[in-house]
Amino acid sequence: MNFTTRLVAFNAAPRDPFRPTATPIYQTATFEQDDASAFGTYDYSRSGNPTRRVLEDLVADLEGGCRGFAFASGLAAITAVTRLLKPGDELLACEDLYGGSFRLFSRILAERGIQVRYTDLSGDNPVPVSPATRLVYVETPSNPLLKVCDLRRIARDTHAAGAKLCVDGTAMTPYLQRPLELGADIVLHSATKYLCGHADVTAGVVTVKDQSLAEQIGFIQNAEGAVLGPQDCFLLLRGIKTLSLRLDRQQRTAQAIAEWLAARPDVTKVHFPGLRAHPGHDLHLSQALGPGAVVTFETGDPERSIRLVEALQIFSIAVSFGSVGSCATVPCRMSHAPIANADARIARPASTPPPDLIRLAVGIEDAADLIADLARAFESTREHLACRSRAVQGVCP
Ligand SMILES: Cc1ncc(COP(=O)(O)O)c(C=O)c1O
Repeated sequence: MNFTTRLVAFNAAPRDPFRPTATPIYQTATFEQDDASAFGTYDYSRSGNPTRRVLEDLVADLEGGCRGFAFASGLAAITAVTRLLKPGDELLACEDLYGGSFRLFSRILAERGIQVRYTDLSGDNPVPVSPATRLVYVETPSNPLLKVCDLRRIARDTHAAGAKLCVDGTAMTPYLQRPLELGADIVLHSATKYLCGHADVTAGVVTVKDQSLAEQIGFIQNAEGAVLGPQDCFLLLRGIKTLSLRLDRQQRTAQAIAEWLAARPDVTKVHFPGLRAHPGHDLHLSQALGPGAVVTFETGDPERSIRLVEALQIFSIAVSFGSVGSCATVPCRMSHAPIANADARIARPASTPPPDLIRLAVGIEDAADLIADLARAFESTREHLACRSRAVQGVCP
């Protein structure tokens, strides 16, 4: 079956005698056993739950992986993967990445004796592994600058060094990009974003390429226990059914918005891999089906950027993306504040998101309405800027 069919036509309730077409929510902590000497398929919901297993099998199928695992959040999923590392090992991460991942790597992993190094892995940049590198961690397109990394090449170089490649595929989802097919060993998502699609669940999923990693992540998931509850698994299963429909619409609108922004003289830079002018455009389309629906841009004026985001009426100011509802943020002050405000003594990327960068997470609303909302906001900030310059000259209150 093709991908979009598999989003819907999965076995919703294996072995359920009533054959429901939606997955039942097995809201139970324990499962009664036949006898005291051996466990049945399920015994305790931290170790395994039928609703969660349907979700995990679906995600593994969509990614082309060997086994999937569902966690209580994207960061819980990332944490589980970092448990593969031991003191003295090195994590080599792309330098443009989600602020919460940076906080986990530079604050928590460093305390566990794991070395962390950030480097720009986009384009043709080399993968500067050291003898201690055990895990290379990549976002592509990255959040928030939408830099594009060559997954095939990075996988080759990572494996040549005896390390594993983990890709945070949140911005793409398996509909647009399947890193395991491009050579990665592990792919994970903040399922809070597109997989859920409705901003009403926090969740994370990990899919691994082979049985050995499946055993390791399965052990970590059970031993540490940050599993996703059955209700949330159900909501994710429901959300995933419309993934391709939502993303088709969202990325079409994102493309229109990116082109509209790129034509404005008061926008200094637009980051969107769907634009031909984007340095990673061709590379991105060689490894993904579409550009996604996150657009970031710069105005050249941090204060104007904040005013612009605050003036939007349809886009809400909310630190996420991937929902049916559009949102806007100033990453440097919000999702990426942990990087921007980081202590200079800890491992940190060489650069931080520019202070005037705005991130738009495009939803499913009417494209013309969203562009009109942006146009109105630009207009109102233009008036503000004019007033501010008159105030400097003493002619405006
Ligand atoms: C790219 C990316 N990865 C991981 C995460 C963390 O996921 P969660 O918020 O579900 O813990 C986020 C959250 O915004 C993200 O943007």
